[in-house]
Amino acid sequence: MILKSTIDRIMEATDIVEVIGEFVQLKKRGANYVGLSPFANERTPSFTVSPAKGIFKDFSSGKGGSAVTFLMELEKYTYPEALKWLAKKYSIEVEETVETAENKEEENRRESLMIVSAYAAKFFHESLLETDEGKAIGLSYFKERGFSAETIKKFELGYSPDQWEAFTGQALKEGYLEEFLTDSGLSVKRDNGSLYDRYRGRVMFPIHSFTGRVIAFGGRTLKSDKNVPKYVNSPESEIYHKSNVLYGLHFAKKSIREEDNCYLVEGYADVISVHQAGIENVVASSGTSLTVEQIRLIGRLTKNITILYDGDAAGIKASLRGLDMILEEGLNVKVVLFPDGHDPDSYVRLVGTNGFKKHIEDNKKDFILYKTNLLLKEVGNDPIKKSDVIRDIVESIAKIPDSIKASVFIKECSHLLQIDERALLSELNKMRNAKAKKDSQQQTNRMVTPVEEYPVDEPVEEYKETSSQEKEIVRLLLLYGNKVIDWDGIANTYIGPFMIAELNDVDFEHPASKAFIEIYSKEVENGVLPEEQHFIHHPDKDIVDLVVTSIATKYTLSDNWYEMHKILVPDEQANMKATILGAIFHLKKHKVGKMLEGLRNELQKEQSVEDQEILLNQYMRMKKVEKTISDYLGSVIIK
Ligand code: CTP
Ligand code: MN
Repeated sequence: MILKSTIDRIMEATDIVEVIGEFVQLKKRGANYVGLSPFANERTPSFTVSPAKGIFKDFSSGKGGSAVTFLMELEKYTYPEALKWLAKKYSIEVEETVETAENKEEENRRESLMIVSAYAAKFFHESLLETDEGKAIGLSYFKERGFSAETIKKFELGYSPDQWEAFTGQALKEGYLEEFLTDSGLSVKRDNGSLYDRYRGRVMFPIHSFTGRVIAFGGRTLKSDKNVPKYVNSPESEIYHKSNVLYGLHFAKKSIREEDNCYLVEGYADVISVHQAGIENVVASSGTSLTVEQIRLIGRLTKNITILYDGDAAGIKASLRGLDMILEEGLNVKVVLFPDGHDPDSYVRLVGTNGFKKHIEDNKKDFILYKTNLLLKEVGNDPIKKSDVIRDIVESIAKIPDSIKASVFIKECSHLLQIDERALLSELNKMRNAKAKKDSQQQTNRMVTPVEEYPVDEPVEEYKETSSQEKEIVRLLLLYGNKVIDWDGIANTYIGPFMIAELNDVDFEHPASKAFIEIYSKEVENGVLPEEQHFIHHPDKDIVDLVVTSIATKYTLSDNWYEMHKILVPDEQANMKATILGAIFHLKKHKVGKMLEGLRNELQKEQSVEDQEILLNQYMRMKKVEKTISDYLGSVIIK
């Protein structure tokens, strides 16, 4: 468990705009910042950050919370992981008490896998730099490839000794558990149950998560034997999902944002060499074809991808399809080829940083135009082939969400293909319409999934009413709990404790609201009026979400909404008594109504006359309460 004092210091240091800015391009708008939601695929920014309140709200997905919850949502961190990430960012020393058994098994597992991976990276790195074998074989290889000592250190490059158990033996000796050694893929289990090293006699490239922790490895052989696989890579694990990871992204993200462009290369060596040359906005998909998740990772940082290919034409043709996916995500794609036999790694070493940059500037082509030229070369005089190519190109253009951009491409391609622009446009529109239809179908399908989670047996409509009334109480407590009451008849008390006292006979049903009220009551008992910050940093995501939605949604974050309800907001404050008592007594009336209904049902089922009488008595009393509340609402509260 992380000490409360540490948590407080982390919270103080945390600048939410800075934190979220590492993942989302934010633009200042008024007092807030806006950007494209990292949780939903949207084209108009609805993701809002309020630095004053230290919260974010994503109107697309409905998610909201603090910098901590943001990291938990986006990076799938646990609460302590997110705190540690922030602590590292702000150089705060984390003080922890001993791990307790209560800590969730799963958190421990992921953390353990990361710890064992970090240990392995250190082991391989030291074996590269400090053992005779490592120096003679691994280090000399890296040096020959032109990697500097600084680069080797930065990328934590390593060497795995050419033995069966060098790493595993050492790790077991130091107390790392077999379970994590095998689950991380670092060790492999033999039939007889003993373990051996997955990586033997290879140079090691640790793969880092977006946030810089080692989650996997690629190990390259130094043998030229064709029977030995060139690379051995970590298997998928709880911490490593290949399709969600780009090699080098952790080192590149800052530069990608600054340059507003991301270079995409194929291999580890390409990333490292180009990075070493001072061009740091470079990542690799590591041999696999690009996935949508990877494109979205980049898309959060920039809308511009430049693909650096080695000049092998067959490889390029094979990857054309994958590039359509980038267009579909709304990103701009440029392509740069290198002279025959060169890849970015060899070319940058040949011509140096400036020569490399110049080559890119002189040779970068827009993907669509590049593709058109490439396919046209094969057409010759064959009209059927030509119509296939046209369809293929228009298909790519149809993927571009921005219709203005698409029409520019249509124009240019009509030149290249020597075909009437209008013919291309009509083909384009056909495809776009078909796509729009498909999309809206998916949209409606999505909309019918219920947003709230209902307790079983509870009639849905009624629960909705209950939970929205309960949430209204939470909202009022947050907004006005620390205001002093000065109404006729009641004075000299704060709204918060007053509401809590008034509601002490009410059972909250909506889980997060219930939890909120419990915390609030407890604090009030201790003589404290909890402020919104108290809840925004709560470990329970549902509570944070409830709180943020209450305080952020309408009143502070969305200017539009405020515009629309300009009159409503001051009104609510103009007659605080009506607002507060109204909410309390509406909720009470609703609860009483539900009880009455329960009693009616029981009465119908009850056979014994005496019991019927008891129930009837209860019913009458309850009915009186209901009437009192109604009268009260009618007389005091104009609502
Ligand atoms: N790759 C892989 N397994 C292989 C071959 C390649 O995982 N058997 C991945 C690696 O991530 C590699 C990338 O594909 O970095 C590109 O492959 P390649 O160009 O063959 O490797 P390089 O890293 O460029 O190796 P080198 O320049 O040292 O030959
Ligand atoms: Mn290479």
